[in-house]
Order: sequence, then C-alpha cells, then structure tokens
Amino acid sequence: MRGRFITFEGIDGAGKSSHIEPLAARLRCSGHVVLVTREPGGTPLAEQLRDALLHTPMDTLTEVLLVFAARRDHVKQVIAPALARGETVLCDRFTDATFAYQGAGRGFDLAQLTALETWVHADVQPDRTLWFDLPAELAAQRLTGARPPDRFEQQSPAFFERVRTGYLARAEAFPKRFVQIDAAADRESVGRQVAAALEGHI
Ligand code: TYD
Repeated sequence: MRGRFITFEGIDGAGKSSHIEPLAARLRCSGHVVLVTREPGGTPLAEQLRDALLHTPMDTLTEVLLVFAARRDHVKQVIAPALARGETVLCDRFTDATFAYQGAGRGFDLAQLTALETWVHADVQPDRTLWFDLPAELAAQRLTGARPPDRFEQQSPAFFERVRTGYLARAEAFPKRFVQIDAAADRESVGRQVAAALEGHI
C-alpha cells in the first residue's frame, strides 16, 4: 500500500521544524517506517539549489524555477520511491510554500504555479498538511537572535503577513487536506494539536 505523505507548513518562525523529529520518533515507536525530509532540499542536487535560493539574489521567476527544479529531483529520487515502499514521508514544506512565498509573498502568478505543479508532480500530492499558523509579528520575535537571517528571513512582517494570507487561501481551497495548528500556543499544546491532526490519517 502507498505510504502517507504529510507536509508541514507555516511562515518562518512558526516553529514547525522542532515538532517533526519528535513526531517521527513517536511514529517509529508505533511501527511506522518514517522518512523525514525537507524543501527546498532532500537530495544532494536539491540541497545545492536550496543554498542558492536562500543566499543568492535572483528574480522571482528564477526563484520559482529553482524551487520546482529542486522539487522535481526530490519527488523523483526520494519522495515517490518512499511512498511506493509504503513509508510515511514527513516533509518540512512542499508546494504550498511556493504558493504562499512566491505566489502571495512575491506576487507571482498563481495560474503559472498551478501549471508547474501539474507538470512537476501531479501524481504526488500530500495526504495531509499541518499549517503552523501565527501572526507575523510573533514569528519575527521568535526569530530574533537566531542565526543570521537568509533571503527569506530578512523579509518584513508585511511580507510574512502576505505569506500567511497565501497559506490561508490554500487551506480554504483544500479544507480536507489542511489542518490549521495554533502555533502561538505553548509547545505542549502544539504537540497535542499535531498528534490530533494526524489521528486516523497515518
Ligand atoms: P525553512 O523551512 O524555513 O528552513 P529553515 O527553518 O532552515 O530556515 O525553509 C527555507 C525557506 O525557503 C523559507 O524561508 C521559505 C522558503 N521557501 C520558498 O520560498 N518557497 C518554497 O517553495 C519553499 C519550499 C521554501
């Protein structure tokens, strides 16, 4: 049986990444074979593209094409084979991030993103998406003092509010797949929300 494909989304500073490994550990304890991966990244080539995306100035079309090139390699080399083996794939960001960051954040044409999505991975779509939602101002406070900011983390709270609105639009378009997590809550509460969001879905 095909495995489950679970994605984790949210603006920078939402705290999603710190919940993925503990979740993977719990799932492994209950007998799942779990693959944890991330975007952009997840293969040697896609990790090189990630480095360019995060640190090299470029226009938005270039950004979109690099994100989807990285995604193509990741889906083909890693995600699709793992799902075919029946594994549970936990992926830190996927195509919803492109709609939110490049689409809502940068203003890139959403119809063109949809065309690329169909071209690159029409046959591989997340089964469930956990959207870690919180106000941009709060996320910015959490990021302050962390490592030096990359090209995205340097953006203004106004940019991240647009990204957040982009996630909201995706959640409304795919209500069965998306689960909104209140990421402003304390860590234990977020952990409980994550577990509840996956109950009966893995
Ligand atoms: P992120 O998960 O925030 O990595 P880290 O926690 O190590 O900073 O991802 C890196 C950045 O890439 C993030 O700011 C969002 C951006 N991004 C896009 O702009 N478009 C995309 O399609 C993806 C997958 C990520």
